[in-house]
Amino acid sequence: MKNRFDLYGRVALVTGGGRGLGKAMARGFAEAGANVMLASRSEDELRGAAAQVAEGLPAQVEWMVTDMNQRAQVDRLARETTERLGRVDILVNNAGSNVPQLIDAVRDEDWDRIVELNLSSCMRLTRAVVPQMKDRRWGRIIHISSVLGLGGKQGRGVYCATKAALIGMARAGAIDLGPYNITVNCISPGPFLTDLPLKILTDGQKQEFTERTVLGRWGNPEEIIGPALLLASDAGSYITGTTLVVDGGVLGKVL
Ligand SMILES: NC(=O)c1ccc[n+]([C@@H]2O[C@H](COP(=O)([O-])OP(=O)(O)OC[C@H]3O[C@@H](n4cnc5c(N)ncnc54)[C@H](OP(=O)(O)O)[C@@H]3O)[C@@H](O)[C@H]2O)c1
Repeated sequence: MKNRFDLYGRVALVTGGGRGLGKAMARGFAEAGANVMLASRSEDELRGAAAQVAEGLPAQVEWMVTDMNQRAQVDRLARETTERLGRVDILVNNAGSNVPQLIDAVRDEDWDRIVELNLSSCMRLTRAVVPQMKDRRWGRIIHISSVLGLGGKQGRGVYCATKAALIGMARAGAIDLGPYNITVNCISPGPFLTDLPLKILTDGQKQEFTERTVLGRWGNPEEIIGPALLLASDAGSYITGTTLVVDGGVLGKVL
């Protein structure tokens, strides 16, 4: 049977690839045959993640310390990935953060930082890699949104705004880039066991999330790999401008 999820010969750039969902997706891409670039701010984490992503595989896995809040570094990431790995076929805008604040207490500096990281840097990196994808008439862009891009939660105004905006950017970007055989989609994860939620939630809130799922548990980072491979490969060639919700059933459950 033809393996439509095969990524042999492809290059994937994953921001926030040093841990959590980014590292899991990077490993999935490498297992499917892709060469991978990982980016984040932590050199030690990136070095360790690159070794884990490449372990036992023929994949070339590179890493680059990049602060996605620094515009020049975002542009440099696109350039250096292309120089070191020859091309970028798959871009996963995954790096993201969250600073819970009630909407009437949002601090300007937090708004600016989170909007720059969760949204503006995704536009910048997309803009930087699209020309080469257009030339090759093949590309996959995946923005990592959230169930909080589709619904609300107390104290998450900034985060929700950025994650909803990614969904809009994917819809419109898909229209712009469809003629070039470049698909643009979001993945909207629900609760996954990574540093990001675990650092900011109380034990009670963690339990609340467990109960909000239909499966009765949090997701393991490896469970993002299948959905990411679908959108990154030829298996997803007719999926564009949409959001794939991977949430253990959170959004489908009303009562
Ligand atoms: N886990 C969940 O339940 C969940 C649910 C919905 C959506 N998401 C989304 O999934 C994505 C990945 O999150 P995660 O759960 O895997 O969290 P995580 O484990 O905290 O990973 C976040 C990654 O982003 C990187 N990052 C943060 N700020 C950065 C910056 N300024 N420049 C470059 N890299 C930066 C981090 O590395 P450094 O800090 O070392 O830079 C890290 O590699 C995020 O966009 C998040 O919003 C997660």
